[in-house]
Amino acid sequence: MPPTTKHMHSSLSRTGKDYADLHAWINDADHQLDRHDFTKIVDFAPEIQAKFGAEGLREYIEHLREDLDSKFTKIWGKDVAARDEALDYYGIRRRGRDYTIDMADIKLLQDAGMAADDLEHSLKVAGKALEIARRVVAASQTPVDLELVGRGALFHDLGKAKTHAIEHGKIGAEMGAALGLPVAVTDIMQKHIRGGLSTEEAMELGLPIRDYTLRTLEERIVIYADRLVDIIWDGVVAVASQQDAEDRFIEIIESNVCYGKNPPTLERYRGYHAEIQGLMRAGA
Ligand SMILES: [Fe+2]
Ligand SMILES: [Fe+2]
Repeated sequence: MPPTTKHMHSSLSRTGKDYADLHAWINDADHQLDRHDFTKIVDFAPEIQAKFGAEGLREYIEHLREDLDSKFTKIWGKDVAARDEALDYYGIRRRGRDYTIDMADIKLLQDAGMAADDLEHSLKVAGKALEIARRVVAASQTPVDLELVGRGALFHDLGKAKTHAIEHGKIGAEMGAALGLPVAVTDIMQKHIRGGLSTEEAMELGLPIRDYTLRTLEERIVIYADRLVDIIWDGVVAVASQQDAEDRFIEIIESNVCYGKNPPTLERYRGYHAEIQGLMRAGA
């Protein structure tokens, strides 16, 4: 379980208060087991609310959630799909929680043999995807799994450590699975080619027949960010700013085949652009 100081730090980041007394109360050696028992939350709630208020009660539940999170992290890699499902089911991997790129993940990319310019691209895509995700959350209150966005973006081009050919999505997903990355992340790696392929396109390109549809908002944010990053930094089209690239996105992909590729790809990117820009402007 995380030490009391870790709980204090996360309370501070959520509420502006460290709730040191509350976390010390929960971790009191004589009562620790009882106070970490989910079935007793309802018994302890009145006492906690009286001592620490409604916010303190929420911080109590956050403390238990963080402990569960750290227990699940310990079984990381043993059965990734079952673990992710359990984390989501119990609200432990909370959608909407902020996320910053983990240095350990950057090291995974370096150790896999990724070249410096590909790593730089991956970091830019992760930064842009997280920025877009935070704007979506702020403007529309749509829940977004920021960890999935950050890690999916960071790893999307892992396959480029082996090849820059169109198979880099498939190869990256295989490498990611071998590293124990969550299925949701390896899915992004496999699906990011041309913004999600139809069965006919996959056959034409000689890629495995599977469902490449970008089913989650997190997947669509990463793939949209990937295209934007290319437009902003490739130098093929002169853009005045990142905002300018977003504003002229449709015109740029329609007039540059290196970005628009072909009609089905163009259609997919038009959809992602409309959806995501709509969410970022919600309530404006
Ligand atoms: Fe790629
Ligand atoms: Fe990319």
